[in-house]
Amino acid sequence: MTQPATDSHEQPQSYPPPADLAAGAVATAALYEEAAADRLAFWGRQAAELLTWDTAPTQVLDWSDAPFARWFADGKLNAAANCVDRHVAAGHGDRVALHWVGEPGDTLTVTYADLHEQVQRAANALTELGVRTGDRVAVYLPMVPEAVVALLACARIGAPHSVVFSGFSAQALRDRVDDAQAVAVITADGGYRRGEPAPLKPAVDAALATTGPDGADRAPSSVKAVLVVRRTGGEVAWTEGRDHWWHEALEAASAVHEPVSVEAEHPLFVLYTSGSTGKPKGILHTTGGYLTQAAYTHRNVFDLHPETDVYWCGADIGWVTGHTYIVYGPLLNGATSVMYEGTPNTPTQDRWWQIVETYGVTKLYTAPTTIRTFMKWGEELVSGHDLSTLQVLGSVGEPINPEAWTWYRRVIGGDRTPVVDTWWQTETGGIMISALPGVTSLKPGSAQVPLPGIGVEVVDDEGRVLPAGHEGAGYLVLTEPWPGMLRGIWGDDERYRDTYWSRFRDQGWYFAGDGARRDADGDVWLLGRVDDVMNVSGHRISTTEVESALVSHPSVAEAAVVGASDPTTGQGIVAFVILRESAHGADAAAVGKELRDHVAREISPIAKPRQVLVVTELPKTRSGKIMRRLLRDVAEDRQVGDVTTLADSSVMASIQAGMRSGK
Ligand code: WT7
Repeated sequence: MTQPATDSHEQPQSYPPPADLAAGAVATAALYEEAAADRLAFWGRQAAELLTWDTAPTQVLDWSDAPFARWFADGKLNAAANCVDRHVAAGHGDRVALHWVGEPGDTLTVTYADLHEQVQRAANALTELGVRTGDRVAVYLPMVPEAVVALLACARIGAPHSVVFSGFSAQALRDRVDDAQAVAVITADGGYRRGEPAPLKPAVDAALATTGPDGADRAPSSVKAVLVVRRTGGEVAWTEGRDHWWHEALEAASAVHEPVSVEAEHPLFVLYTSGSTGKPKGILHTTGGYLTQAAYTHRNVFDLHPETDVYWCGADIGWVTGHTYIVYGPLLNGATSVMYEGTPNTPTQDRWWQIVETYGVTKLYTAPTTIRTFMKWGEELVSGHDLSTLQVLGSVGEPINPEAWTWYRRVIGGDRTPVVDTWWQTETGGIMISALPGVTSLKPGSAQVPLPGIGVEVVDDEGRVLPAGHEGAGYLVLTEPWPGMLRGIWGDDERYRDTYWSRFRDQGWYFAGDGARRDADGDVWLLGRVDDVMNVSGHRISTTEVESALVSHPSVAEAAVVGASDPTTGQGIVAFVILRESAHGADAAAVGKELRDHVAREISPIAKPRQVLVVTELPKTRSGKIMRRLLRDVAEDRQVGDVTTLADSSVMASIQAGMRSGK
């Protein structure tokens, strides 16, 4: 990512807030002043005003056991009651919560009153199945309204949910179910993807089976019950006593359920994300602080006016963006949202713009990779649609290059709308760095400024704060605890300390794992991960995870994986593999395809390498560490950097020769 140097396209470099938006904006510059004057009092006010507490908290932050934070610890509340019941009680039961759009064209309107009934029934159904407060429930669902109901039903009984992206494999599901010791799984027979029904239930059956994929016996899983939403109507295998249809269980359950009032620090969910080792981390979020930050950021970053806005976040519920900005943030704020099941090009490449036009979407939140895909498809697809309702556009998941930013604003936003680039992570729970659309003058390509109440610095290796305008990159750190922060890694306190808090232990700062710099105005520019984590289409994938999947294939002796820059997906996965003796002489193209499919099966299609290169050696240091930096040079077609620390300096020449002949 580079800063736009000159104004080559006659575009202004700075976009002030539109006057009408600024005049009616929920967030004003006063928010920064208030937070700067007394940060904890500021968060205390947000918690009190944005949430409804059964017992109001008297404390804001307890950091005495750092890095294990307790926010609003003596308060009690229920997340589902905050998302649903209180809006119904306030007379907004008829307000639409979800305009749901199925991929084949079916639609459903879900009001807050509808949600209220469904969530109560589902909470009772889960209880009937033996799920208790504190038990973990795995959710493995496509983008159907039941996914929202399922999360809220878990929250209503105080059973932390653990959503597993429905594109993940049976093995990935099993690993996460085992780690969280989930007692139940909520899934569907299937979902619609690219115009076809895609089965899901078989993956659950495989994940829970007592025979592993290798045919060997394995221990029964912790799961006692499986609830199955009927979506595609396809045939499903059934395990009597374990499997239950969602619609039957809800119909049989009472429509009245008293929400369980939990302590603010009661776990709300665990969500797994890739770290720089192979084993995914179960990121733990709790109730009061997470909800405060979800509501606060959603309201202020999207300038949300619940009576008039139609908000749409195009993420999947399987990622943290779906948790915070499809489920909790919008529902806490009483918003009306669009939820779309399928892919943006089904049946045609203008599906999104049809949806924006049909529902009069006012706020849209998506990822740079999606925007760049739309750019590739061409603006003609957009120009046939009336998108004049749009007022604020958001971006998340990776740095947005200035070209994509200006295209998004000009073509989708009609040259009117602010585009807010929001930086955050699964671990932060909610947005941390972003402009405020009614306050900030926008600078394409930069995430710009920490939100009021958030402490951010860019520092060097020794933890010295880099002055604004400093040439060269540093590390992004978070200097103050924040309400939505992760409370740990499920079952692994040591890894939590090591991963986030050891790098700058002396200063007590959270290490985000991202490179960053600050320009002369003090605006923050994110520069990508500094660890072995790749960012493919806004999804975090660890190099080690893909390498483990590759070496689990019988043909592979050794593998090294790098993220190479990619014009559409941000990064693309390039794998270098050494084949076993038995596979020598095999057709390189066939091996490549086989290995790419193997990774898709082992992890997920999103982890599929863009390219697999068969090599005879890998560049290693004398101590045996793979030098990914050099492989990245090859993958990105650059002159290879310094090779003096290689054990065998001829290795790179042979890899490059192989790369050229393979093209
Ligand atoms: C990583 C977190 C936050 C929800 C989606 C991803 C990268 C995220 C931005 C942005 C530059 C960004 C960072 C971060 N990232 N948003 N606006 N600009 N980089 O959540 O899977 O936890 O990934 O995504 O590298 O560390 P995640």
